[in-house]
Amino acid sequence: MKSFVALATVLLQFGFAVASPVDAFAKPRPGFALLQFADDVEPVWYTLAEKYALEEKFVKFVDVTETWADRKERLAKVASLKANALLATFPVISQQETVNAVIANLSIENLQSYLATLTAFNNRHYRSTTGAQASNSIASTVQGLAGDREDINVTQFTHSSFTQKSVIATFAGADPTAPVVIFGAHLDSISGGTTARAPGADDDGSGSVTLIEAFRALVESGYAPSVPIHFHWYAGEEGGLLGSSAVAASYARAATPVRAQIQLDMTAYTPPNKTAAITFITDRTDSSLTTYLRSLVAEYNSIGSATSTCGYGCSDHASWTSNGYPSAFPFETTLGQDNPNIHSSADTINTPGFSWTHMLEFTKLVVAAAIELGA
Ligand SMILES: *[C@@H]1O[C@H](CO)[C@@H](O)[C@H](O)[C@H]1NC(C)=O
Ligand SMILES: *[C@@H]1O[C@H](CO)[C@@H](O)[C@H](O)[C@H]1NC(C)=O
Ligand SMILES: *[C@@H]1O[C@H](CO)[C@@H](O)[C@H](O)[C@H]1NC(C)=O
Repeated sequence: MKSFVALATVLLQFGFAVASPVDAFAKPRPGFALLQFADDVEPVWYTLAEKYALEEKFVKFVDVTETWADRKERLAKVASLKANALLATFPVISQQETVNAVIANLSIENLQSYLATLTAFNNRHYRSTTGAQASNSIASTVQGLAGDREDINVTQFTHSSFTQKSVIATFAGADPTAPVVIFGAHLDSISGGTTARAPGADDDGSGSVTLIEAFRALVESGYAPSVPIHFHWYAGEEGGLLGSSAVAASYARAATPVRAQIQLDMTAYTPPNKTAAITFITDRTDSSLTTYLRSLVAEYNSIGSATSTCGYGCSDHASWTSNGYPSAFPFETTLGQDNPNIHSSADTINTPGFSWTHMLEFTKLVVAAAIELGA
């Protein structure tokens, strides 16, 4: 999750002059980053030092350095995929027996164990050594869970401007050419610079382990979907949606059809004394996909669903939306009432309101969507 500090506030504090509007066709400039601060606003070049200062102030921006130049070509490619019938519809819920059996095998102990591994890194900053190690750790855990299944592929996606890699695990699907269903979380954490302690238990350790435990239970059940189902752990979300921007652009450049990208960024916190709900972000997401997922919550979850908005560039769903793909974002609670300890050394499992049963509800939703959409 990127938080909600307005750029103007920070510019005042720093006394930055806003650079002149970018030449949209400019090549990446060494030592600079091209940052966008709102939809339909031209991005601006900043020095990396200026960018890092904005990052440490938790300003919302999307780093479009490597994706701006060919954005129109990518959108045209993705638009040309829209004829595929699977892209427009979602199935009637029919897999109750299978879904409920896999859900029954989900384990809070596993969520706790996976999260303890992630929070033990000093931080998972996208430019720190421990951040790179956290990516390797997730890749190795997921590869271990996949075992020797030939239809499952676990790879790390290398980013050209920083060392932390995104992790991608794929179920090939009986029809590997069918539109892909993607579940995403971001593996990085931040509380300041590259050495600051950032356990990131909720942001986004919670979403990361939600995906690991759902993946484990699916593999153990012998799940072999009819269509490709991909699990993504993105690098560098806190650096301006870096990992998801690059990964989404790579799918679009390859004209890969994507039926759904479902983002899990913060699944653990529910405010004390408020009715818990899986809360769907309604801006920069797809309303049909969101409606479908809310029907899965009604069928399979012990809590209800709600809606909220989160604004420009707040998480990786936006990278898929900006490439023309449908995305959805089930979030822990209403924006503004979410975990007050994120982006600090206090983002731990001891935050009052941090709830393993809440996280388990999101894990159930991932299992349900993977099985229903992969049937
Ligand atoms: C697994 O990933 C590698 C690297 O991306 C790729 O070359 C290979 O074709 C993939 N295999 C399958 C079965 O998808
Ligand atoms: C649930 O877990 C048990 C014990 O590991 C296993 O034998 C069983 O096949 C699992 N069932 C499903 C549906 O995954
Ligand atoms: C929650 O409700 C309980 C009992 O009604 C009350 O004692 C407590 O102060 C409330 N906590 C918060 C955070 O509002």
